[in-house]
Amino acid sequence: MRSGFAAAEGAVIVSGFRQGLTFALAAISRSGIRRIALEDPGPREHDVIARRAGLDAVPVRVDSEGVDVEHLRSSGARAVLVTPAHQCPTGVALAPARRRALLTWANEVDGVILEDDYDAEFRYDRQPVGSLQGLDPDRVIALGSVSKTLAPAIRLGWVLAPRRFVPGIVEEKRLSTRGAPALDQEALALLMETGRYDRHLRRMRDTYRARRDVLAAEVECTFGPGRLEGLAAGCHALLRLPDDASEAAVAEAAAARGVRVNPLGRYRFGEPDAAAHVDPLPPALVIGFGNVDEERIRRGIRVIDRIVRSLSPGTRR
Ligand SMILES: Cc1ncc(COP(=O)(O)O)c(C=O)c1O
Repeated sequence: MRSGFAAAEGAVIVSGFRQGLTFALAAISRSGIRRIALEDPGPREHDVIARRAGLDAVPVRVDSEGVDVEHLRSSGARAVLVTPAHQCPTGVALAPARRRALLTWANEVDGVILEDDYDAEFRYDRQPVGSLQGLDPDRVIALGSVSKTLAPAIRLGWVLAPRRFVPGIVEEKRLSTRGAPALDQEALALLMETGRYDRHLRRMRDTYRARRDVLAAEVECTFGPGRLEGLAAGCHALLRLPDDASEAAVAEAAAARGVRVNPLGRYRFGEPDAAAHVDPLPPALVIGFGNVDEERIRRGIRVIDRIVRSLSPGTRR
């Protein structure tokens, strides 16, 4: 975990980010908050989870500096869920001025920021940036897990919450699971106390940096400069396609050749029908490189290049 503020009484151990989010949303909903803004584009299904918690979920724009705080201000929401370290899926790291503006907004509306501390440990161009939660522990609920740092199968995560939300989150946990796996927690604690967790993070950062460098070089050589975005952190990046390309057709053809990438449109807010009514984003592919070795990265980009060039104008949008 990065420089945040963690006191034992504000920390709740959960089975991964997703479960922490579910509990936190239920707790803020029961505290009287009615509307939450979700990054658009953003991770899928969070709107469904928010609605199940009784919240009205609305989209908020993301641009080249991260979440658009002016848009958020006009949304009427008193809660927002953000991925500041490495926006999912655009890969933008929230700009310093936006970080300050976001905290100001939360204080203005007596609101709360849910910080998905996703990909924070893997920053390549500089030291990891401190968490938002560390800047304002009374306005931010930080949610983290070991899914990206160790493995998603471990199902361990944490929620660091302002004091007023802790009883509600603990109650959700007690009612739905009674507890997170204790033996796994003991093993993780041992990894952390002995310094092996930190050593693992340093090793993986080097591995991912090497894969990212291969991806960047291959894309530049194949598609030219400036096509890849979101490389400062994490294990995925955004490949901008030519304006007339159909990202869905390219992703489908790539999958048929064993190369799995996601069209950016898959991260649009709401149901597919509703997404048809929002402003289109330029075509792009979300490319994960965390679990792909360097040779497969090179091959994958060559496959995508061939597909983009072979698509007839009829299948381009
Ligand atoms: C945006 C985002 N946040 C967090 C996570 C981690 O979720 P979990 O801890 O439930 O595995 C993921 C998993 O892929 C993710 O896509």
